[in-house]
Amino acid sequence: MNRLTRYVISLGGSLLTPEEGLSDYLGAFSDLLVERLEEDEQYFIVTGGGEIARRYMSLVDKGGMSQYSLDGIGILATRLNAFVVASYFGDLSNKEPFTTVEEAALLGELYPIVVGGGTVPGHSTDAVAALVAERVGGEVFLNLTTVDGVYERDPRKHPGAKMYRELNTEELLKLTMEKGFGAGGHMVIDPLAAIVIHRSSIRTVVMNGRDLENLRSFFEGKEFRGTVINPIEGGENG
Ligand code: UTP
Repeated sequence: MNRLTRYVISLGGSLLTPEEGLSDYLGAFSDLLVERLEEDEQYFIVTGGGEIARRYMSLVDKGGMSQYSLDGIGILATRLNAFVVASYFGDLSNKEPFTTVEEAALLGELYPIVVGGGTVPGHSTDAVAALVAERVGGEVFLNLTTVDGVYERDPRKHPGAKMYRELNTEELLKLTMEKGFGAGGHMVIDPLAAIVIHRSSIRTVVMNGRDLENLRSFFEGKEFRGTVINPIEGGENG
């Protein structure tokens, strides 16, 4: 499929909580992307696990299950969300979520919109999205989350925390490494995703996925609220 611009979207699981309003949100989200297909764009969407992942993990007897197996539960939750999101695109997307990065690339030959969830234990769907972007030559990696961008500290815990408007991939990598993987304490992008973004110089944008008008402004090249992470110009990867 010869599309001009490939976007890879990490659709945060927190945007997919199964509650009232989700169906309207997904309807509006899919309308926006489908409209954009006229601009010769292609979208790869990787869905997070969110509330479903957290709920099921919390039911598990931690003494009886390894972190590896807990990740397995998380992956299933991400795929459940992927099934739901894909259904909003009808015949424009695959019906069953991709389960590997390679499968995502192959489905990209068939569909303008490709949807999937987690792949293997040990990282989050941000990392899957970054790897998909690397594999398919994605022009932009769009991380849609429930905060407005990358902050110096978690804005949900520290009101008034400063949001970065712009960073380079090296600065992002440094920030994610400083914050680490710790449960509940992770950065808005996970460290593996940051490594992939840096090594392959992938332009990345982090924004609040709830604000679809803001997302539209971004697509249309207008002013938008979010953090832009630029490859280092003239750098070894740039
Ligand atoms: P998420 O990508 O939603 O993780 O995958 P997260 O970063 O913890 O979620 P948010 O952004 O805070 O809502 C859910 C879980 O699924 C497993 C991990 O356990 C992850 O925490 N997972 C996901 C994997 O093990 N591998 C994958 O490729 C994806």
